[in-house]
Amino acid sequence: MNQKIDFNSLRERAKEFYNGSEPSHDFSHIERVKNLALRIGKYENADLKVLRTAALFHDIGREKEKRGSINCHAEWSAEKTSKILREEKLDSEFIERVVECISAHRYSRGKEPDTLESEILSDADNLDALGAIGIARVFSYGGSNGVEFKGNNSSIQHIHDKILSLRDRMFTDLGKKMAVERTFYVEKFIERFEEEWIGEK
Ligand SMILES: [Fe+2]
Ligand SMILES: [Fe+2]
Repeated sequence: MNQKIDFNSLRERAKEFYNGSEPSHDFSHIERVKNLALRIGKYENADLKVLRTAALFHDIGREKEKRGSINCHAEWSAEKTSKILREEKLDSEFIERVVECISAHRYSRGKEPDTLESEILSDADNLDALGAIGIARVFSYGGSNGVEFKGNNSSIQHIHDKILSLRDRMFTDLGKKMAVERTFYVEKFIERFEEEWIGEK
């Protein structure tokens, strides 16, 4: 497949969907997921064009889901991306592979990644929820939504319930390795946080 893809134009088209997103899910999340996906993709010999495109568009429906106008941003983003890529006259097999990645990136929604590229996108998205960036995103999201630091339904609770379990649902070898390292960093943070919380450090 030797189609020419204008990534600058795709990037511009994707970017407008993230206008007004809160910092935890703004376009910088997209850039980081793209960089992580390309890094893992090179290591795994995956299709980097599919990955780059899927990363750019994977959360375009997130704002809509947040406002309650759609149910599942993964599904909506996949459909909308398919439409945009058809307008850009891209190859239909390529479009299908991108759509596959996007529709499977959200694990709570039944559909499991079952291609190398969809596994990599899922790993990259989960890695951005871990490590120093992951911690920053949890508290930033909490701040935007009036969530307390500690206690029931707090940011710390969210880290325990969700963030610390992400390493168990990684697919690729490099993704797993990076997730273990990033999770270790989060665990250290929690330990220190708890000590500071009661004035012990
Ligand atoms: Fe998402
Ligand atoms: Fe994402």
